[in-house]
Amino acid sequence: MRKETLRMFIAAQLQPAALRELAAFSARMKREFPGNYSRVENFHITLAFLGDTLVSSVPTLEAIISGCCKNTPPVTLTLSGAGFFGNPVNAILWCGMDGAAPLVDLSNRLREGLSAQGVRYDPKPMNPHITLARKVDMNKADIEKYRPAALQSKADRISLYSSQRINGVLTYTPLTTTVLK
Ligand code: 2AM
Repeated sequence: MRKETLRMFIAAQLQPAALRELAAFSARMKREFPGNYSRVENFHITLAFLGDTLVSSVPTLEAIISGCCKNTPPVTLTLSGAGFFGNPVNAILWCGMDGAAPLVDLSNRLREGLSAQGVRYDPKPMNPHITLARKVDMNKADIEKYRPAALQSKADRISLYSSQRINGVLTYTPLTTTVLK
């Protein structure tokens, strides 16, 4: 019998005020730089990308995440400038943030916890960002000019997400959520 898997990743959720500012910023960017823009519901900060993972391992993953999040207070972030990854004519557009060092620490602890349980993940180090769009032509953009409002917001929820195309729409669904206190 085939074992059921889902594409999974662990990410910090953003609070509504930050999501609203990112949505407004993203809409501004979209007017100037068309591309494949993410839905606001999909905005997040990836801590670890697991890829195809057995659904039966969700309880183990939840235990790893809640163990690593113990004694980790909510993280105060301030939205900062934009940037892009990859080839400028076909770029991934992202928004950065200040104050993400505690999230990088948490990402490192999570990865140690995953490794200790034999769970595989993409070893590329965490680079704190929120992906706004893919396939954007940023070739002529002076990216320094574009910034969201420097909104301060707390990241206080860490979720294990599944990533699926549902009726052709890329959908991220929280499978478990741990609240930072
Ligand atoms: P991102 O964080 O730059 O947006 C689900 O695919 C999420 O996991 C996306 O947010 C994606 O990129 C992130 N991610 C990190 N490493 C990945 C990888 N190797 N393959 C696909 N997605 C990855």
